[in-house]
Amino acid sequence: MTHKTPWLGTNWKMHKTRGEANAFATALKASPFANTGLANLFIIPPLPWVEGVASIMKGTKVKVGVQNMHWADHGAYTGEVSPLMVKELGASLIEIGHSERREHFNETDDGVARKTAAAVKHGFLALVCIGDTRAEYDAGAAGDALARQTRFALRDAGKAAIGNVVLAYEPVWSIGEKGIPADPEFANRQHRRIKEVSADVLGEALPVVYGGSVNPQNCLELISKSDIDGLFIGRSAWQPEGFIGIIDAVTKMLGEQS
Ligand code: PGA
Repeated sequence: MTHKTPWLGTNWKMHKTRGEANAFATALKASPFANTGLANLFIIPPLPWVEGVASIMKGTKVKVGVQNMHWADHGAYTGEVSPLMVKELGASLIEIGHSERREHFNETDDGVARKTAAAVKHGFLALVCIGDTRAEYDAGAAGDALARQTRFALRDAGKAAIGNVVLAYEPVWSIGEKGIPADPEFANRQHRRIKEVSADVLGEALPVVYGGSVNPQNCLELISKSDIDGLFIGRSAWQPEGFIGIIDAVTKMLGEQS
């Protein structure tokens, strides 16, 4: 028996033209899921398309997010974007700490701590990504890496994180073209540990979604697991049919189980 309302979302990374972004949003708005209560949906376009996509999704329940932001309200931070600016774009979700940002742009645990607190302070939902690298996984240190990243993510936000932060477990070795999807049972165990750490910090466990090579074949097994509260999807959801197909399959299956 499960009554979970899953988080289902997609990060488009640095993909899509303005026309493609708007066409995706228009298709999702026209789908039966734009105002569904069966899932918490979110889409995270590249920054320049956020305002247009948010205005198309207005009046729906779908959250629109940004892929990164700075923690300060304003300042001498050339090239950065503040929470106040993001708010004016119409976004309600901030993705923080994706492994590609940690790997290519020197995103640190300290930065993730500050950004998460800033996102929560400004009333956004913070989607904080954590994940073990291949080397950490191979050394049997995945659990330690995840515990560290979780504690840092919550360092500055504290109890304000409750209800305002969703953690995304994305093993680095599972992401992208060369990624190997995590075994659902392994992922579930990691989710449980992450929840234990968040409960240790906050007194309450945060929801944890899984990301990394989620596809139409593995989405149902993943979402069936007790501690997997949602799916964070890249490539398989970049076309509206792909995203809508996974939403349809997951909500149908959970509906039949409840
Ligand atoms: P993928 O991306 O589904 O294409 O592996 C996942 C992610 O980076 O969040």
